Amino acid sequence: MANLTVSYLGLTLKNPIIVGSSGLTDKSASIRSLERNGAAAVVLKSLFEEEIILEKEAMLSRMQSGGFLYPETVDYYRYEDAPKETTADYLDLVRETKNQVSIPVLASINCMTAQQWTWFPKEIENAGADGLELNLFILPSDLNRSAEENEKVYFDIVQEVCSKVDIPVSLKISYYFSNLATMITRLGSTGIKGLVLFNRFYSPDIDIDNLQITSGSVLSTPGDLALSLRWIAIMAERVDCDLAASTGIHDGPAVIKQLLAGANAVQVVSAIYKHGGEKITEMLHQLETWMDKHDFASIDQFRGKMSQASTDNPAAFERVQFMKYFRGFTGEEI
Ligand SMILES: Cc1cc2nc3c(=O)[nH]c(=O)nc-3n(C[C@H](O)[C@H](O)[C@H](O)COP(=O)(O)O)c2cc1C
Repeated sequence: MANLTVSYLGLTLKNPIIVGSSGLTDKSASIRSLERNGAAAVVLKSLFEEEIILEKEAMLSRMQSGGFLYPETVDYYRYEDAPKETTADYLDLVRETKNQVSIPVLASINCMTAQQWTWFPKEIENAGADGLELNLFILPSDLNRSAEENEKVYFDIVQEVCSKVDIPVSLKISYYFSNLATMITRLGSTGIKGLVLFNRFYSPDIDIDNLQITSGSVLSTPGDLALSLRWIAIMAERVDCDLAASTGIHDGPAVIKQLLAGANAVQVVSAIYKHGGEKITEMLHQLETWMDKHDFASIDQFRGKMSQASTDNPAAFERVQFMKYFRGFTGEEI
C-alpha cells in the first residue's frame, strides 16, 4: 500500500489533500465529516482583519460615548483587552475543532494592513491552531500607488505576524505582481513556512440583458488548474518554503499533476462544494491507484519530477505563445 504522507509547514500530513478555507470549514461538525472522508488538514474559514478591528472600534466608541474615557486613554488602550465577540467565536471554533479532530487545523486571516489586528494571531496560537494562513490581496488598481508600495505591505504583514507567533505561518497570494517569480522567491525567504498558489477571487460579470453588474461563478472549474500548475512547476525548488497548490483541483489526476510539478500539498474547495466530501476519498483512491501503477511507494519518490528544474523540457512551462499551433491548427483537430 502506497505511503501518502507529506510534510507541509513542518507538519506531517497523512496525505496531500487539505480542505481550503471556505464555508466548508466554518463548523467543527462539517470538519469532522471532512476528516472522515480523508482530508489530511483543514484551513478554517477566514476571519477578516476588518472584523477584528471593527469589534475593537465599536467597543472604543461605546466607551467614549459613555463619557468615562479621557481621549488620551485611547492611546494607551490595550486592544487585546477589549471585549470579544467575533474573535471569541473564532477562537471557540479553533478550540472546538481541535478537540474533535486529529488532523492539523490551520486558522486563516484575510488581511490588507499590518496594523491593529496583529495581536490576534497569538490568541489563535493559544487556542491550539497548528498554523495560520494569511490570505493577502491588494488589487493593484490604484493609479497613485507604485508596485513597490503595494508589495511592501506583504512584507510588513509577514514580519509583524511572524514576530508574534511560534506556529507556522503561510501566505495565500494572487498572481497580480509586477514580477511574480521574484515576489514568490522574496516572500519565501521571509520566515513564512509556506506559500499557497493561488487564491481565487470574486470576479465581477456583466448581465447584458439587464445592464447590471453581477457576480461571476463562485466555484472554479477543472480548467482553472493551469495557472497554478505552471507556477508551482516554475517555482518548485526555487523557493525557501513549502508550496501548496490551490484552484481548479477537481480530481485525482489534478492532485497528481500538482505533486509532479513540485507542490508539497494541495488545497481543494470547489470540487467538494460540487460533489461532497466523498470527492476527497475518490481523489485519494485515484492517487493510490496511480502510484501503484507506476511503482511509487511514497510521494517523495515522484514529487517535483516534472518541475521546471527537473523536467527535460523546461521551456514548456515558459512558453506563452501558440506559435507551433498557430501554423498548423485548423480547428479540425478538436
Ligand atoms: C464559497 C467560498 C468561500 C471561500 N471563503 C474563503 C475564505 O474565507 N478565505 C480564503 O482564504 N479563501 C476562501 N475561499 C477561496 C478558497 O479557499 C480557494 O482558494 C478557491 O476556492 C480556489 O480553490 P478551488 O478551485 O478548489 O475552489 C472561498 C471559496 C469559496 C468557493
